[in-house]
Amino acid sequence: MKETVAILDAGAQYGKVIDRRVRELSVETHILPMSTPASQLSEYAAIIISGGPQSVYDAEAPEFDPRIFELGRPMLGICYGMQLINYALGGTVERKSRREDGPCTIEVSDASALFSGLDTRQTVLMSHGDSIGGLAAGFRATANSNGLVAAIEDPARRMYGLQFHPEVDLTEHGKQMLHNFLYSVAGLSGSYTMEDRIAKATDYIHEKVGDGEVLLLVSGGVDSTVCAALLNKTLGPERVHAIHIDNGFMRLDESRKVKEALQANGLELTVIDASDDFYKGTTEVGGNIVGPLDTVTDPQAKRHIIGDTFMRVAENAIRQLNLDPERTFLAQGSLRPDLIESASKIASGKAQVIKTHHNDTELVRMLREKGRVIEPLQDYHKDEARELGRRLSLPDDIVMRQPFPGPGLAVRILCAEEPYITDEFEDINAQLHAFSTLGVTATLLPVRTVGVQGDGRSYSYLAGLSGAKDWRHLMQIAREIPKAIHRINRVAYIFGEKVEGPVTEITPTHLTPDVIGQLQQADDIVNNALRQYGLLQRLSQVPVISFPVSFGKKGARSIAIRTFITNDFMTGRPAVLGKDFPEHALDDMVIGILRDVQGVSRVVYDLTSKPPGTTEWE
Ligand code: XMP
Repeated sequence: MKETVAILDAGAQYGKVIDRRVRELSVETHILPMSTPASQLSEYAAIIISGGPQSVYDAEAPEFDPRIFELGRPMLGICYGMQLINYALGGTVERKSRREDGPCTIEVSDASALFSGLDTRQTVLMSHGDSIGGLAAGFRATANSNGLVAAIEDPARRMYGLQFHPEVDLTEHGKQMLHNFLYSVAGLSGSYTMEDRIAKATDYIHEKVGDGEVLLLVSGGVDSTVCAALLNKTLGPERVHAIHIDNGFMRLDESRKVKEALQANGLELTVIDASDDFYKGTTEVGGNIVGPLDTVTDPQAKRHIIGDTFMRVAENAIRQLNLDPERTFLAQGSLRPDLIESASKIASGKAQVIKTHHNDTELVRMLREKGRVIEPLQDYHKDEARELGRRLSLPDDIVMRQPFPGPGLAVRILCAEEPYITDEFEDINAQLHAFSTLGVTATLLPVRTVGVQGDGRSYSYLAGLSGAKDWRHLMQIAREIPKAIHRINRVAYIFGEKVEGPVTEITPTHLTPDVIGQLQQADDIVNNALRQYGLLQRLSQVPVISFPVSFGKKGARSIAIRTFITNDFMTGRPAVLGKDFPEHALDDMVIGILRDVQGVSRVVYDLTSKPPGTTEWE
């Protein structure tokens, strides 16, 4: 039997996180629909049933084949998956009056193989409304949280269930629990190693491409760069055509650095400087022409123009290469989570086209229709792609690069012609004053940023705190403000003198070369410090943002440093100063920006988690 684990997807929010964790434990996984027939699952060494949003009694609950429970394969149900196991085998599930959401403490039984080696009290992430009522015959409860069943098992049938999410970081010893399931319960040996996978990726490329050629658009991010290096090593440079389009919103000197890194790896990269095409780019949205880009302020309009301009520029560049569509393959650096995500969106009828936008020129479309798109990294998660890049001798500077949005710095410059001051401004500002305590002043700022609140995106006010630099206290206020005042979705600490009185002025800002240059410089200072202090790995992403609040300095803008720690970018938190991020590192950045970048009034540090703020500010 193959040592592969089937993950049955019941609509999980954290499905790809389960996948990553299991692969991290050197076990191969396949994600399959919940409805997969038992006959197809008998080949798998074990089955994990994911969480999902439904209740097992819902009419829309995902279908399943009841015979999967008779296969005799070791089985682990997570959250909804546990309830399904219990329900399908004759137990009951009940809706309790209170939901359990967020980190909880549970008591586990040390007699359970799943909790072997762990303390009795465990911190875990719960997220459920339903709970186990009556246990199915043969099962016993092996953990509880405040009297509710938190884990079940029938060791004779090797069936286990967890009411919480072992796959996420918030479950402190979740990885050990998964390890126990895979190694002790299912008896796997962990044979899915990096060597094995590189060999597989290489075979895949040879098999698909034969003696053909490959075209690849390289952004400079980890995925496309590692993909380029892998193709180069496998096929040789003559058969790999790599193009990099500089849209004018790259980081300082980035295009040159990417070219050099690939050159050092024996791969020629054609860099096309298209900044002017982008700055002056226009496009049509709903029958109206929007742009040129250097006159628009709306974030979505910016994204539209950049996406469409990218397509036009790429089209020209590809035409100039005179590639034969019959012999050419388009390579993309898509990673496993991208593919899981798009597959699950297609499966749930919510296919999203935005992500493919920039790889959608006419030739690209033609190649896709002919089945000529190859995705050699489709089996890799981000950290694994990094490891692969390292083995292909890419420098750490490239391999450890944090994700960078396709539209680049264009979505990190908040543009505005006038301050954002609605009728509620004064009222919200007055409410904010309640949070001015212990030497801290809370002030409403006349700009808005994007966030996630409730079920959707919000585009709301930014609040600034200034004064006493007690980070614990500041973090706490930052958590409370958006809960109390829903029209605020983001809170930042403003360095320097306390900001008193209403802040109502901005410096009109568009995507012009001077503003871009200013942000490039600030971003470079932050990134150099991150590198110097070895923080690039510890922090998942650190957007540096320009926003137009002048704080009384005529013609000036301000710079925000937004640190973000996450596994999947669906939720996350800022770095805690003194814990994830030494305070003197942040001080160095702030001093460096104020000293070296012209026209900066204040530097702020974003204190917001996601939700209610997003990673990026727009
Ligand atoms: P948010 O801001 O939604 O971002 O928390 C989540 C992740 O997505 C990246 N991001 C983008 N990437 N084009 C991209 O290629 C975009 O328009 C875009 N917007 C956000 C963001 O940097 C973060 O990693």
